[in-house]
Amino acid sequence: MQSTESLFENIRNDFPILKRTVRDNKPLVYLDNASTTQKPNQVIDSIADYYQNHNANIHRAVYALAEEATEAYEATRDKIANFLNIKNRQEIIFVRGTTEAINLVAYAWGRTHLKEGDAVVTTEYEHHSNIVPWQLATRANHAKLEYIGMDDNGELILDDLDKHLATGKVKLVTFSLVSNVLGTITDAKGIIEKCRAAGVLTLIDGAQAVPHMKVDVEDLGCDFFAFSGHKMLGPTGIGVLWVKKSVLETMSPFHGGGDMIREVHKYETTWNDLPYKFEAGTPNIADVVGLGSAVDYLTKIGMDNVREHEIELTKYAIEKLSAVKGLHIYGTKDISKRGGVVSFNFADVHPHDVAQIIDEEGIAVRSGHHCAQVLMERLDVAATSRASFYIYNTRQDIDILVNSLNTVAKVFKL
Ligand SMILES: Cc1ncc(COP(=O)(O)O)c(C=O)c1O
Repeated sequence: MQSTESLFENIRNDFPILKRTVRDNKPLVYLDNASTTQKPNQVIDSIADYYQNHNANIHRAVYALAEEATEAYEATRDKIANFLNIKNRQEIIFVRGTTEAINLVAYAWGRTHLKEGDAVVTTEYEHHSNIVPWQLATRANHAKLEYIGMDDNGELILDDLDKHLATGKVKLVTFSLVSNVLGTITDAKGIIEKCRAAGVLTLIDGAQAVPHMKVDVEDLGCDFFAFSGHKMLGPTGIGVLWVKKSVLETMSPFHGGGDMIREVHKYETTWNDLPYKFEAGTPNIADVVGLGSAVDYLTKIGMDNVREHEIELTKYAIEKLSAVKGLHIYGTKDISKRGGVVSFNFADVHPHDVAQIIDEEGIAVRSGHHCAQVLMERLDVAATSRASFYIYNTRQDIDILVNSLNTVAKVFKL
């Protein structure tokens, strides 16, 4: 069997983009994986193969190509089911990404189930895609949006959840399994247990979790689970919403159109079976195929190995970054509660200036509010710099980052 170390060494060869140089012929050091990940040849080739050899519309025609395209599309549904331990493939809906998944729930579940005076509870460390759809849904139905606060360690204050649940008004609690800014891993099972005891549904935003660790959706016990393909080596424009069947059956359609219907008459329509009732129109077939290849790729590496690699890199990064003069790291130092994301600030140097200077060295990190302005307000900052790691990153990438940050510290006399 291949050792974990050599496994990760060889991985870089699968990613053509990692061979290129940027700016003044500097090797690319890509550390913006929380934003989107690079794609291996296996994923790129599967999309090209689909268009070169199998392209047709799905679920409709009976000719050979249409059958092949349908099989390839539906095979990914089965791969997702295996990858996340989902027992019923009818509960898996293909969407454009996490954002569309949450909007689907806010519209198709929220519109039917939220009543005046009800509450939806989210957290202070959510991505905008798990805040704004709930602002829209609660406002439309005269319900309220409430928050679970965060302590200075970047962990949720679960007493807040208890207080909200005690009102008897909460219909849904929603949270990200891993924060995209702090990397905090949420105590999902603890929250879900409390919500289930109170008869409250739960939605997990798994965008920063599914690419980085083993996730067992059945074991979590939530009602909704969302994630994006492009953050896990897959193409952009494809993601997944999982909904427990008993809940999905109570939801009205999101989009109306082809494929989601059984019969259409002048004034009445009946719906197709699950999950097709929620997949209107010609879907993103090629990228579903690409997502299937990404799942194959990650399965071959093993998600426990992925997590182990990221723990090792994150530990190393926190140790090295902590020694940079004037640099403050946000979030917990407890690596068992943290994913491969490190957000930081340099005294009062603006993160955009930091990102711009280190970009000259070929380093790609994100700077800004990371679509988490509620969290920025809680941290009392306008922005942070963020380095985020994935399977192809190395200790050397972190060394290059740390060296260039030392230069920034010198430039700004920190
Ligand atoms: C935690 C979290 N949720 C949701 C999203 C939105 O994902 P997408 O833009 O793929 O819909 C992101 C993207 O950064 C994220 O990090």
